[in-house]
Amino acid sequence: MPLSYDPAARTLTISTDGTTYQMKIDEHGYLLHLYYGARAEGDLSYLVTYCDRSGMCGCPHDVADRTYSLDVLPQELPFQGSGDMRSPALLVRDAEGTFGCDLRYRSHEIRPGKYALPGLPAVYAGEGDDAETLSVTLADERLGLEVELLYGVLPRLDVITRAAVVRNNGTGRVTVEKLQSACLDLVTGDLDVITFDGRHAMERRPTRRHLLNGSLSVGSRRGMSSNQYNPLMIACDHAATETSGRCWSMSFVYSGGFLAEAERDQFDQSRIQMGLDDDLFSYPLEPGEKIVAPEVIMTYSGAGLERVSHNLHRCIRRNVCRGPWRDAPRPILINSWEACYFDFTGDKLVELAKKAAELGLDMLVMDDGWFGARSDDHRGLGDWKPNMAKLGGTVADLARRVNEVGLGFGIWVEPEMVNEDSDLFRAHPDWALTVPGKEPVLGRDQLVLDLSRPEVRDNLFEQLCAVLDQGGIDYVKWDYNRSIVDVYSRTASDQGKVLYDYMLGLYDLLERVRSRYPELLIEGCSAGGGRFDAGMLYYTPQIWTSDNTDARNRLEIQYGTSFGYPCSAMGAHVSACPNEITGRTVPLGARGTVAMGGGAFGYELDLMELNDRACELIKSQVKTYRTIEHLVREGLFYRLTDPKDATVAAWEFVAEDGSEALVCAVVTRVDGYGLANYVVPRGLTPGARYSMVSNGDVYSADALMDMGLPVSVPATPYESFMYRFERVD
Ligand code: GLA
Repeated sequence: MPLSYDPAARTLTISTDGTTYQMKIDEHGYLLHLYYGARAEGDLSYLVTYCDRSGMCGCPHDVADRTYSLDVLPQELPFQGSGDMRSPALLVRDAEGTFGCDLRYRSHEIRPGKYALPGLPAVYAGEGDDAETLSVTLADERLGLEVELLYGVLPRLDVITRAAVVRNNGTGRVTVEKLQSACLDLVTGDLDVITFDGRHAMERRPTRRHLLNGSLSVGSRRGMSSNQYNPLMIACDHAATETSGRCWSMSFVYSGGFLAEAERDQFDQSRIQMGLDDDLFSYPLEPGEKIVAPEVIMTYSGAGLERVSHNLHRCIRRNVCRGPWRDAPRPILINSWEACYFDFTGDKLVELAKKAAELGLDMLVMDDGWFGARSDDHRGLGDWKPNMAKLGGTVADLARRVNEVGLGFGIWVEPEMVNEDSDLFRAHPDWALTVPGKEPVLGRDQLVLDLSRPEVRDNLFEQLCAVLDQGGIDYVKWDYNRSIVDVYSRTASDQGKVLYDYMLGLYDLLERVRSRYPELLIEGCSAGGGRFDAGMLYYTPQIWTSDNTDARNRLEIQYGTSFGYPCSAMGAHVSACPNEITGRTVPLGARGTVAMGGGAFGYELDLMELNDRACELIKSQVKTYRTIEHLVREGLFYRLTDPKDATVAAWEFVAEDGSEALVCAVVTRVDGYGLANYVVPRGLTPGARYSMVSNGDVYSADALMDMGLPVSVPATPYESFMYRFERVD
C-alpha cells in the first residue's frame, strides 16, 4: 500500500516503488517531517534529535521542554508563530492584523485515487497508476483556522504531489499573507540548488549554487511563471551528477507568480519550499471561505539528475497533459511569424501553405496580425474579428483554401490582452487591470484584461467561439506577452486577491475552450517561454519553448528545459539565418537536428525564399522526423553533455523498452586538428547489441556506454549528427 499509518509510532508513510516519505504526528500535535529518500521500511523517528538549545530556540508554552523547539525540528508546514524563525510556509494575520497561528494535528484520512483541485491544474491518475491520497488536517483553535495538507502518490512514477487547502472556520477574518504549497525539511546533506533562470529569448538555463548558510530564492511577481525564473527547483548533493547523488525536485503546477526558496539553517539543515509569490499576495478569508495552494510535484532520485527528469517527464506527459493530443504525433508546422511577421495576406499564406505541402509539412499557422486593426503590435488586441480585406475572406474561407492544398490550419490568439487602440478597450476601459488615478504601465503597448471578472471571460469566450465555430481551425497558439504590473481589479473585494483570482479565471477560460473544442490542439506561448510550467501543460500539451530560434542558443534552452519538462512539450522550429535575434548563421542541417529535439517540430521561415538544395534538405528532415518522432515524444531523454561548455552538444532518446535509441550531436566548436569527439550514450540495454540504422554496423551496448561513439571533427562548427540504433538481440 502506498500510504500507511502506524498508530504506535504515529507516523504517516508514503511509499513509491523507489522512494519513501515519512512524517510524524508528535506528542504535542505538531506534524514533523522525518524523511524523503530511498525506499525504507519502519519507523524513522530516530532521525530527529532533541537537545537543549533553548537560549536561541523557542519552545511552545504548553510543551515546557527545553529540548523541544520548532526552530530546530523538521516540519511539514512550518508556520509563523511557532517559534520557528526560518522562512515559514504559512503566514497569517487575524482580523486585528496580528501575525501568527498555532497549527496542530486534528485528523487524517487515506483515500483511494488522486485528489483533484477544482479550478486548478493538478496531476491526475490514469488507469493502473494505483494512486492514493493522504489528507492531513491541522487546526488552530483560536482562529478557527484549518489547513488540509493534501498528498497524492503515484507509486510507479516515484512521484508525490502536495497541495493545501486553507479554510477559515472561525468567526473573524483571517488573511493569508504567505502560502507555500510544499516544504521539505532535510536534516542532513551538503546541498546544491539548481534553478532555471534566464530572460526573454534565453529561458531556463540551469544555475547551480552551493547552499550555504542563509537562504536563496527565485520567483516571479509578474503574474506569470516568467521567462526569468522557472517554477522548478532541484536540490541535490553537492557532488551529484546526471547519474549519481541524491536529488529532490519541486515543480509547481501553476502559471502565475511563485516563490521557490532554499535555506540552510543554523544547524546546517536544509529547507526547500515552493508556492505562491507572497509579495503581491494578501488573501483575506472571511468566515467560511477558503483558498487552495496549488500543487507541487515532488520526486526523489538517489541516482542523480537524470532520474529526476525521467520521473518528471513521465508524470507530466502522462498525468498532467490531457486530451487526444497527449499521446498523438503532433503536426509539423509552418508558422507565419518569422516567415512574414505582420506582412501577409490570405493569398501569401496560401502560397506558403502550397510550398509547405510540397515539402511534406502538416499545418499552416497564421500567427499574429489577422484580426481587427492589427497591422503592427500597437493596436488591435481584444478585437478577435478577422481582417477580411487582408485575409481575402473569413478565417474559415482561408482555412478551406489551406485545407485544399493539403494542410491543416491554425491561428494565433492572445486573449488575455487588450490594446488601448481597440474596440474592446474603447467599449470597456475598466476591463483592463489599471490602478485608478495612476498612469498604467504598458508592455508591448498593451494592457492585461481582468480575467478575475466573469463578464470579461465571457466576452473573450464568445469572441473565440465566434472564430472557432466557423470550423477549419485545428490548432490555436495561445500567447501572453507581458507581465502584470498594475494589480487592481474594479470588482475585487481586496486587491491582494487579484493575481491569484486572475489565474483561476485564466484556467476557467482555458477549460471552457478545451471542453467545447476537445479536438483542438492548443500550444501555449508567452513571449516564447514565459509560461512554460506544469500548470499550462494541463491545458496545452505543448508550449513554444522560446522566441529565440537560434540553434546555438536553443541547445542551451532546450537542455535546461529538459530538466523538468518532457521533449513532447517543447515547441521547436527551424528558422532563417542569420538568426533574427542573435545574427548567427548555423547550417540548416544543425538547425533541423536541434529543432527535432522538440516533440512539437516545425518551420518558421519564408519557404518561398529557399533554394532547391534547402528544399530537398527540408524534405529529408521531415521524413527523418517522422521516423524518430515517437522517440522524441515518448522516449527517455538523456543529456549526454552540457552544451554550454562542451565541444559537442549531445543528447539521446531511448525507447522505454530499450529497443531503439537516437543519439544526436552538434559540434559547437572546432579546435585545430582534433582527432574525434567521443559521445557516450546511456540507457541502452546492458549486454545487448545495437545496429546503426543508416549502415547496419553492429555495436555492443556496453562498449558504447563505456568508451562512446566517435563523432568526427568537421571542418566547420555546427555540423550535426543523428545516429539511430535498433537493438538486435
Ligand atoms: C510572441 C510570440 C511569438 C509571436 C509573437 C506575435 O512574441 O512568442 O512567437 O507569436 O508574439 O506577436
